[in-house]
Amino acid sequence: MAQIDQTPAWQALVEHAGTVGKLHLRDMFRTGDDGDRYRQFSREAAGLRLDLSKQRWQGDTLELLLELARDAGVPEAIERLLSGERVNISEGRPALHTALRLPADASLMVDGEDLVPAVHATLAQMDSMVDRLHAGQWRGATGKSIRDVVNLGVGGSDLGPLMVTHALSDFRPDVAHPVEVHFASTMDGSQLADYLSRFNPETTLFVLSSKSFTTIDTLSNANTARDWLVNRLVTHGHQEGVDAELVMHQHFIGVSASPDKMSEWGIAADHQLEFWEWVGGRYSLWGAIGLPIALVIGMEGFRRLLAGAHAMDHHFQTAAMQDNLPVVLALAGIWNNNFLDIRAHSILPYDGRLEYFAAYLEQLEMESNGKSVTNDGDSVDYSTCPVLWGQLGPNAQHAFYQLLHQGTQAVECDFIAPLARYDDVADPATRAHLMGQHRLTLANCFAQSRVLMLGDDAIADDGPRPEHKRYRGNQPSTTLLLERLTPETLGALIALYEHKVFVQATIWGINPFDQWGVELGKKIANETRDIIEGRQGLDDMDASTRGLIEATWRAADE
Ligand code: F6P
Repeated sequence: MAQIDQTPAWQALVEHAGTVGKLHLRDMFRTGDDGDRYRQFSREAAGLRLDLSKQRWQGDTLELLLELARDAGVPEAIERLLSGERVNISEGRPALHTALRLPADASLMVDGEDLVPAVHATLAQMDSMVDRLHAGQWRGATGKSIRDVVNLGVGGSDLGPLMVTHALSDFRPDVAHPVEVHFASTMDGSQLADYLSRFNPETTLFVLSSKSFTTIDTLSNANTARDWLVNRLVTHGHQEGVDAELVMHQHFIGVSASPDKMSEWGIAADHQLEFWEWVGGRYSLWGAIGLPIALVIGMEGFRRLLAGAHAMDHHFQTAAMQDNLPVVLALAGIWNNNFLDIRAHSILPYDGRLEYFAAYLEQLEMESNGKSVTNDGDSVDYSTCPVLWGQLGPNAQHAFYQLLHQGTQAVECDFIAPLARYDDVADPATRAHLMGQHRLTLANCFAQSRVLMLGDDAIADDGPRPEHKRYRGNQPSTTLLLERLTPETLGALIALYEHKVFVQATIWGINPFDQWGVELGKKIANETRDIIEGRQGLDDMDASTRGLIEATWRAADE
């Protein structure tokens, strides 16, 4: 099949970019197609408002992009994704994260089986674990109630739950026995070592989250945790009847698509939560991998998160292409990346609760669409996923906004903020202060996107200025407003980006659901570890790696 850049729709966009690409955003706002770009380029769904008017495009640009999406088969691809076809072609699987948020009375037949009952059976299993922990009825081996839960996982088995628990910590339910949830992902053990130095083993429970249950990062943390518990509670413990088997049973929950491997490692069968190969790691927070989320916001809160994501799924499936939030957001990215040559994308939330949102999206977008081979096995000759990074907007203003305003790189920005906040704070004086801080934050958010757009024109003419005080503007941005940050709107926001990634992958003709690019690094890391540990095998090494390994040996010998 011809690649997308050979189609008439792509060629029309190249030609269109030749003229529209030369326009400055300030001129587009002056002459706007119908004088009101905000109305023209804003869309709403599922508690989210998307303002795409500060993109460097016009009405006819969007028309051409929609034609490109139709030529690439986006409407049909959406149907294939949601109906459970094997869209992950290199691994021969469907990608059914959307099935994890279907309501209990829905049904989704895949290969003659309805997936919904199994999905809700897992939710019920999570429900019962969360209930026991929140009631103080889940006891460690010595009989004390669990207080600290540490999630051991990495990538998709860490970032989603970490991001959501942080974002929604205001939604903790009032329970008899709240537990504190923590995350350790790094293979160097630094996060875990800190917890082990502070927590009481009698009241600490570990959740081993790993789809494959082979990830060395997670397993090495898990082995350290297991030894810590057995050492402290059995070898050096003084309580009769407390043995390693009891410790393993009471202090570990496993979450994986591989029950055999969980059993082999020592997770008791009744403390295993299973999920399915048809859920990709970075798309998995909606099921058992979301257990830490449910422990923080309760199962009711977790179901609200699922409902918000489902509302976005429904919108994605039913809204017309030009009004479809994931579709138009994806098209803005394609326009910037492929036609305006803007290859950097910054994610800038203006709400401290979204601290980990950019880190989460870095995996979602770059591990999904950082590909250069099409589904037909051909090398692409156009650019795919841009470099994406971000941080809380207010902090980034004091860090890298200098580059956005006056550097040499063109960067697309996503500004994200809730419209309302703090109106529920009980103390009136504190409420007034905090609501003022919220308005200040929104003012900064809107001011930054305005200056990035207009440059010098954002301020009244105050006479000639030296070059180093000038702003060129013309940096495109999207502003995404949530009515307020709730489980529902966060669910919708995450699902929006998941579907955006899928639409872009469809247009680029690549598979967003595999990640072969990370495999070679894992293999070579294992070989390198054998060399470091075995102190031999340097002969075939390049000079740089040889020098680094020898330095490791010298440091160990000193
Ligand atoms: O190495 C990349 C990756 O495979 C991600 O795709 C995944 O989210 C992460 O590692 C963790 O994998 P697992 O859940 O199997 O431990």
